[in-house]
Amino acid sequence: MTAQAAAEQAAQVGPARSVVLQAERLTRRFGGLLAVNSVSFDVEEGEIFGLIGPNGAGKTTLFNMITGLQRLSSGSVRYRGSEISKLRPDQIARRGIARTFQNIRLFGNLSALENVMIAQHVHLRSGVLGGVLGLPLSRREEQHAPERACELLDLVGLLGRAYQEARTLPYGDQRRLEIARALALEPTLLLLDEPAAGMNPNEKHDLSTFIRGLHDRFKLTVLLIEHHVPLVLGLCDRIAVLNFGQLIALGAPEQVRQDPAVIDAYLGAE
Ligand SMILES: Nc1ncnc2c1ncn2[C@@H]1O[C@H](COP(=O)(O)OP(=O)(O)OP(=O)(O)O)[C@@H](O)[C@H]1O
Ligand SMILES: [Mg+2]
Repeated sequence: MTAQAAAEQAAQVGPARSVVLQAERLTRRFGGLLAVNSVSFDVEEGEIFGLIGPNGAGKTTLFNMITGLQRLSSGSVRYRGSEISKLRPDQIARRGIARTFQNIRLFGNLSALENVMIAQHVHLRSGVLGGVLGLPLSRREEQHAPERACELLDLVGLLGRAYQEARTLPYGDQRRLEIARALALEPTLLLLDEPAAGMNPNEKHDLSTFIRGLHDRFKLTVLLIEHHVPLVLGLCDRIAVLNFGQLIALGAPEQVRQDPAVIDAYLGAE
């Protein structure tokens, strides 16, 4: 091929999106169990990337490894080119990776607003120098924190419940509060672990539009674990399928939906 032909071909393909997250041969053992077995994938900037598979497939364990909650048995995780698998969860959060939890983790006795503000406070204080020197927040940061926390609550539809104790909120609201708290960390990569779990059908239906809205507004890259298949198929650019810790498929929703191995392991004949 001539140089000109190669250049023309490259131009047709368009500019390559940059890879933000590279999971390489990620492996996690629990005793004799290989919960995640040599899983590799890349996530591109701005992608909504789905992760599906049967119960116990290793999805949450994968999130835990990416966010530093569980150490890798082997493999590597690179974020924007640098290895993060040896970092603590707070260091990883500071680099712009935030998450929600399958088993909701809120401060139940604190209000919705306080739950968001705590995350914000940790984040604002965590600049490199501020962390080392224990510097107080700047006046500007202090002033704008409550305002910003209210904006986030408003965004997730919880402003009217700002002063309600988190534990008294309906399940769906608690899930949205977790999303607001994650956003308080000002992430560029957001990991959502089963955000639709416990939501009613209406809430599930709205969630797709909601996640898409967040993605557009904050220019997020999103990693989504979700059992509600229509949501995943409708929302994700690409989907990875885990089964017994192994990656059995990776591709566009339509491709994954028709994959016999995926139908066999997870989707069923329907
Ligand atoms: N801390 C742990 N100690 C021992 N085994 C664990 C631990 N965490 C997870 N496992 C096991 O690892 C496997 C993967 O679990 P994981 O929670 O990652 O699955 P999952 O795909 O998120 O499932 P679900 O859809 O039910 O949430 C399971 O067999 C689980 O029992
Ligand atoms: Mg899970």
